Amino acid sequence: MSRLDSAIRRLQAQQLSLEWAASAVATHSGNAIELGLGNGRTFDHLRSLMPERPLYVFDRQIAAHPDCIPADDRIFLGDFRETLIKAKQVLGQTVLLAHLDIGTGDKEASIALAAEIAPLVDSLLADGAVVVSDQPVTLPRWTSAVLPEGIKPGRIHLYRIG
Ligand SMILES: C[S@@+](CC[C@H](N)C(=O)[O-])C[C@H]1O[C@@H](n2cnc3c(N)ncnc32)[C@H](O)[C@@H]1O
Repeated sequence: MSRLDSAIRRLQAQQLSLEWAASAVATHSGNAIELGLGNGRTFDHLRSLMPERPLYVFDRQIAAHPDCIPADDRIFLGDFRETLIKAKQVLGQTVLLAHLDIGTGDKEASIALAAEIAPLVDSLLADGAVVVSDQPVTLPRWTSAVLPEGIKPGRIHLYRIG
C-alpha cells in the first residue's frame, strides 16, 4: 500500500468513526471534546455533524485553518496533562463524545501519551459516552466497540463508556 493509500484510509476511518460516534450519542445532550485540534480538519467535521453540541478543543498550540479555530472559551490551550485537569473544573463529568487525535510519527510515544492522559479524559466522561481514539487505550470503564464496516482493525479505536 502506498503512503497515499494509507493516508486516505486513515482519513476515511476518522470520518466513518466520527460519524458513528456522533450518531451513537445523537439523542442525548452533553459536551464533546477533541484532543488535538491540529489544522482543524476533524474539528470542522465534528461541528458539521453536531452543530448544536458544545465542542471543546485541546492543543498546545493553535495552528488550525483560520475558519477552524473555535471561540476562546472553547479552547484549552497547553499541554493535555495540564489542561485536562483544568477542564474538569469547567466541564465536570458532562462529556458524551471524546475524540483523541494525538498521534505523532513516534508510535511508542503516542501510545505512552494516550495511556497517561486517558484517565484524565475518563474523569470527564459521562456514563453512555463514546470515544474515538487514534491510539489504543485500556481502562476499566472503556469497552471496545465494533468498527464500522470498511475500517481495518487497529487503524482507529472506538470505545463505549460505562
Ligand atoms: C494528529 S494532530 C491533530 C490533527 C487534527 N485532529 C486535525 O484533524 O487536523 C495532533 C495534535 O496534538 C497536539 N499535541 C500532541 N501532544 C500534545 C500534548 N502533550 N499537549 C497538547 N497538545 C498536544 C499537537 O500539537 C497536534 O496539533
